[in-house]
Amino acid sequence: MEEGVLIPRPETELLVDEVLKRLDKAEPAIGIELGVGTGCISITLLIHKKELKMVGNDINIKALKLAKKNAKRHGVSQRFLIFGGSLFQAVRPFAFDFLVSNPPYIPSYLWESLPKALRFEGYNSLIGGMKGWEFYQEVSKELDKYIKKDGFFVFEIGHDQGSVIKEIFEPLGYKVEVHKDYSGQDRVAVGWRL
Ligand SMILES: C[S@@+](CC[C@H](N)C(=O)[O-])C[C@H]1O[C@@H](n2cnc3c(N)ncnc32)[C@H](O)[C@@H]1O
Repeated sequence: MEEGVLIPRPETELLVDEVLKRLDKAEPAIGIELGVGTGCISITLLIHKKELKMVGNDINIKALKLAKKNAKRHGVSQRFLIFGGSLFQAVRPFAFDFLVSNPPYIPSYLWESLPKALRFEGYNSLIGGMKGWEFYQEVSKELDKYIKKDGFFVFEIGHDQGSVIKEIFEPLGYKVEVHKDYSGQDRVAVGWRL
């Protein structure tokens, strides 16, 4: 296993399901994923929906190489554009059908207390800043330019971050729905413009 690369977890399925159930199977769609890592979210979406194209980025170049390899292995590389970059830095404004992300969301003060097996995934994969939710806050500032009017976002979130996600996005005109994981904790936030 290579250091700095995320190991996909069952919660990722919840994220993928929330995207797929909002897309019409037969209609073409184009989505963006911020922080693709090794590509498991976008690749799973592309496997399930043949009419979908994905654009994805990450700041971890090592992970991106694996994402490209994985996309090829699963026969979806023609529909998956992957590039290096932070947040929307290298993405021109575009009306995507949706944005999906499993970003770093753990507050920095918890780093030392994380199990070694988790820390193996790398600081930048896990730590979202001092509060943990800075990534969502950054995305919220530009999201309007990157999803179409009836588009939506789906985020994986920390176990106690449902209310803060609402506080970030609802004043900007989004309705936010928080879904729990298998152990009853906040895990996925879905939002769309009102
Ligand atoms: C929790 S991991 C998720 C990886 C993958 N999407 C998955 O679910 O397996 C978070 C990912 O976000 C990336 N990341 C962190 N900060 C980023 C930023 N500012 N812009 C883009 N990607 C970022 C990390 O390198 C890491 O690959």
